[in-house]
Amino acid sequence: MNDNVVDLDFPLVQLSEKDRWTVRDAFEGTMVLGGTGSGKTSGSGHTFANAFLQAGFGGLVLTAKPDELAEWRNWASACGREDQLLVVHPAEPWYFDFMEYEARRDNGSDTQTMVSLFMLIIEIANEGSIQSQETYWLLALRQMLRNAIDMLKCAGELITVETLYRLIVSAPTSVSRLGSEDWQQDSYCFRCLNTATDQYEALTDLSDGTQKPMHFDDFDIAFLYWTNEFPNLAEKTRSIIVSMFTTTADAFLRGTLKRLFVTDHNKRPAPPELARQGAIIVMDLNIKEHEDVGRIAQGVYKLMFQKANERQVASDSTPGVFLYADECQFFLNSYDLAFQQTARSSRIASFYLSQTLSNFHVGLGERGEQKANALLGNLSTKIFHANPDTTTNEWSAKLIGEDWSLQSSSTSSFDQQDEARMSTNLSEQRRYIIEPIAFTQLQRGGQPYDYTVSALMHQVGRTWSTGNNYLEVFFQQSQSQ
Ligand SMILES: Nc1ncnc2c1ncn2[C@@H]1O[C@H](COP(=O)(O)OP(=O)(O)OP(=O)(O)O)[C@@H](O)[C@H]1O
Ligand SMILES: [Mg+2]
Repeated sequence: MNDNVVDLDFPLVQLSEKDRWTVRDAFEGTMVLGGTGSGKTSGSGHTFANAFLQAGFGGLVLTAKPDELAEWRNWASACGREDQLLVVHPAEPWYFDFMEYEARRDNGSDTQTMVSLFMLIIEIANEGSIQSQETYWLLALRQMLRNAIDMLKCAGELITVETLYRLIVSAPTSVSRLGSEDWQQDSYCFRCLNTATDQYEALTDLSDGTQKPMHFDDFDIAFLYWTNEFPNLAEKTRSIIVSMFTTTADAFLRGTLKRLFVTDHNKRPAPPELARQGAIIVMDLNIKEHEDVGRIAQGVYKLMFQKANERQVASDSTPGVFLYADECQFFLNSYDLAFQQTARSSRIASFYLSQTLSNFHVGLGERGEQKANALLGNLSTKIFHANPDTTTNEWSAKLIGEDWSLQSSSTSSFDQQDEARMSTNLSEQRRYIIEPIAFTQLQRGGQPYDYTVSALMHQVGRTWSTGNNYLEVFFQQSQSQ
């Protein structure tokens, strides 16, 4: 097994004779942009993935295409790391119950953290469309989740998607229902309210100074919510917030998502922390075949991976991990921005690949362009491959910048003796350092380009050995195709 390289100055990739890309650079994040067939995966993707593997990094790989698992198997075995691959797929012996994990970790998450997590999961499951909901519904949904989690805690129940679901769908929809025997007999919510009340009263009766667990501080409010506020909500409000929750929860209670995310004692848990120990976690749920389920499963695991690795206080000797997402537009969510701002201090190397800028805009949903700009600003290294997309190329050219250059223009005229005269004017003009069209002319690999892929690289604040703020780099393909 490779020792994980922890030295920030260690060169991961030799870009040219004098230019190196180090572990420090990796932790500042990378984005690769290039058209279809421009050599992103087989050129820069393979080169940098190989560097992470050689350096002993564990990581998380998200997949969009069916051949990506095989590709990573090859890449890992070429580095002697095949035995560290951990493949996540419903048929593999791994599961990850994210709510239970949250409830159990350290001292247990506080209610607010769990609510925020579930809101993000609802956002992922609904492809960001929840962000366009009115603030009122979102606040009402948060309030319902907060009270559900507190009530489950007070009743001594585990907090899982299933218990949350059962409590919410069996809650009273009118005050009169509360007294109905039929409802009381069947309702999981009623049982939780009863047990929690008993526990609360028993703790209150204790006069030996025993401290009540903190969640009982909110018992009164939660009790009032479920016995008064929730049943008195306007029918429309209640059905909207309940269905915002149930449409997501329901997806996790059946099929593939259930197999992956609900505790199964015949399988082993695969918490994202395993990556710090060197595991190369490959989500084998590619979007092409698994569509929405693949997107949700990978999005949720990615979110948990980000949060888990971010929570850990990193020191100089904390092993690095990578997060690799080809076709990353399928996996973006509003949390990526906050995450990328702290990824460096958490020693996480994000490596995203996509075709165009607009993929980022769409992938980030509501206010996508603003969010994309913020996110891209926090991915310090940019690698541009050949691209036919003019908007992306103009954006790339702008990023590299403009320069003043001398332009000469000549005019010819005839004087009164009919003799030709030439006059030359020199003027300074602003122009792109790299014109947008140059991004269409990069080498795309394969036999026509002698298996060489070229790209232009830019890194925030860096001047390369050439004296320029961009560097032309070349990647050799492995020629296996
Ligand atoms: N290992 C390889 N050896 C040689 N040529 C390859 C190899 N992998 C891909 N190619 C060829 O090189 C070119 C670039 O392919 P690559 O898959 O890297 O592009 P890409 O930018 O990732 O495209 P896409 O956006 O469709 O994923 C294509 O013409 C492809 O057929
Ligand atoms: Mg590709």
